[in-house]
Amino acid sequence: MSYPSVRLRRLRRTAALRALIRETRLDPSALVLPLFVKEGIEEPEAVGTLPGVLRHTPATVVDAAKEAVSVGIRAAILFGIPRHKDAVGSQASATDGITQIATRALKDAFGDELVVATDLCLDEYTDHGHCGLVSGNGTIDNDATLRRYQEIAVSQAAAGADVVAPSGMMDGQVQAIRQALDDAGFENVAIMAYSAKFASCLYGPFREAAECAPRFGDRKSYQMDPANRAEALRECVLDVEEGADIVMVKPAGPYLDVIADVAAALEVPVAAYQVSGEYASLVFAAEQGCFDLDAAVLESLTSIFRAGARIVLTYFAVRAARTLG
Ligand code: PBG
Repeated sequence: MSYPSVRLRRLRRTAALRALIRETRLDPSALVLPLFVKEGIEEPEAVGTLPGVLRHTPATVVDAAKEAVSVGIRAAILFGIPRHKDAVGSQASATDGITQIATRALKDAFGDELVVATDLCLDEYTDHGHCGLVSGNGTIDNDATLRRYQEIAVSQAAAGADVVAPSGMMDGQVQAIRQALDDAGFENVAIMAYSAKFASCLYGPFREAAECAPRFGDRKSYQMDPANRAEALRECVLDVEEGADIVMVKPAGPYLDVIADVAAALEVPVAAYQVSGEYASLVFAAEQGCFDLDAAVLESLTSIFRAGARIVLTYFAVRAARTLG
């Protein structure tokens, strides 16, 4: 009879031994809570395809952040939904725009206790629902869009954002935004770039929540082809060269190879966005009795961190922090 010469099961014997040798540890301070805030509503609104996620008023968004802070969350990202949409997304850069109002409310309430990031894009603000300006022939005008992004960045920074997060996938957006922030005296406002953002069907529930589905066409001329791994690294490298402080991969769970590549190649912190469709898939499957939701949440988040993410944006942030606490 021959015996195994190496016994890995020795260190799996008890919960304490398993905790001792664990390679990846979840910490609420590495999670970012996405928050939706909508102009012109009196009460928060539920979102059918995102159970448990609300469109907030500026008052209730502060309450939601309080709950998050009380369980150890240190960062939130804001998505504004304006009442008035037009071709150039004017409300995105308005001093009294809904995102700017909510940013000021969060900074007034929490100061430096909470990192406030703002999604920097046009799709929630345009009547056509695209992330950039549409030119006469129906294509998305890259460079005209950059000028709008610069205005939005400065107005979000002026409202108090600690971090701006450009999510429109225009070429050169990080450089343009860095330049505009520096010129306006906001050299301490950081850029978390949605660098490798794929044209994913998993954004479906978000588009209901943020009321921003494109009215014609799709986003494939600016978001990445899900088939491309080398190109994702190229996007991230370019964004670091342009001045990104944090690069993001999005979605997260189905793109762990991309997260691992980027984390291995770059020194900047890597963020990953567990998107609305990933959230909804787990919530609805658990409702049908497929598995326990809390177990699925922790396993999915652990996998994203194990792949190399240092920051995860997730609608499960508060739930996960509670389970961990
Ligand atoms: C664009 C934006 C989107 C998401 C974050 N920022 C939608 C899109 O690109 O269509 C999706 C996030 C999610 O699905 O949770 N402003």
